[in-house]
Amino acid sequence: MSSLARKAILSLAGNRFVTRVMTRHGLKIGAGRFVAGVTLQDAVAVTRRLNDEGLAVTLDLLGEGVTDRDGARAMAEGCAGILEAIGREKLDANLSVKLTQLGLAVDPEAAMENMVYLQDIARQAGIFIRIDMESSDVTDVTLDIVRRLYARERNVGTVIQAYLYRSPKDLEELARLGMNVRLVKGAYLEPPSVAYPKKADVDAAFRRLIAQHLSAGCYTAVATHDDAIIAFTESFVKEKGIPRDQFEFQMLYGIRPERQRELARAGYRTRVYVPFGSDWYPYFVRRLAERPANVWFVLANLMKP
Ligand code: FDA
Repeated sequence: MSSLARKAILSLAGNRFVTRVMTRHGLKIGAGRFVAGVTLQDAVAVTRRLNDEGLAVTLDLLGEGVTDRDGARAMAEGCAGILEAIGREKLDANLSVKLTQLGLAVDPEAAMENMVYLQDIARQAGIFIRIDMESSDVTDVTLDIVRRLYARERNVGTVIQAYLYRSPKDLEELARLGMNVRLVKGAYLEPPSVAYPKKADVDAAFRRLIAQHLSAGCYTAVATHDDAIIAFTESFVKEKGIPRDQFEFQMLYGIRPERQRELARAGYRTRVYVPFGSDWYPYFVRRLAERPANVWFVLANLMKP
């Protein structure tokens, strides 16, 4: 999508009237396709439905702009509730978290403390926690916290972004530890001094990272909706004889759901990233800005009687 159209959507979405209407009615008129709902109960119901279709899930409690310790602690409590629900309801699911939600911007040690709290709950319930990767100004501190957590217990992993020039080296270090890593193209606006500006270069880097981590014998989550990358992974694992329990595909809730089911039916472990929570609006706007077809989908729902 052109950056002009993207900016137009982001600016319209920021309009106060649009925000008020959307936050009040949005889940009914389209946002519900990308967000599982407002409550944990909503997310559990969606997870169960996806599990019944043969899809694993990673749950994400939405919430942005945590600026104090109380907000970070409240987020940690929300995540603890998710871990408890996964155990109690026997869901095929794990948890994805962002360290900025757990206080990274306030004090990295506060984020570490909150993660230790969650890691201990997850250990008791036998659940894995994925630490999402955010913008490049927090890559170092995120990797540092991930390594410290991994030294305590191996039930955590993180994400490496193909667009960053530094990623092959970071991935090599994580492979030395034997870490389960999710590989993605990268979602933040980064300068050309740190990230490939061209899509073709990002795609090529993504393929190299997939080959690198799988060849190192490490568990690899290939998170993409891109058929060319999926096809590359399929042929790479076939050629190298990499077993199916060493990797999985991941996609976002509501994006290419048919393809998700198709991959699961083909016998690939496939996991859906399921976001939920009252602070769903900014996440939803980013999904719209990524792709014009999604805007038409919402407008068409608005026109329905
Ligand atoms: P690309 O953007 O090239 O899209 C390929 C095709 O997928 C498109 O042509 C279209 O058909 C379809 N598609 C893509 N987006 C769509 C949309 N919104 N609606 C409908 N169709 C769409 N990033 C990050 O920086 N840190 C992280 O921790 C994560 N975590 C993460 C987890 C999971 C499970 C996923 C799937 C993605 C992430 N990402 C992420 C986001 C990632 O970096 C990337 O921005 C998106 O996945 C889009 O890139 P694709 O690989 O899908 O390819």
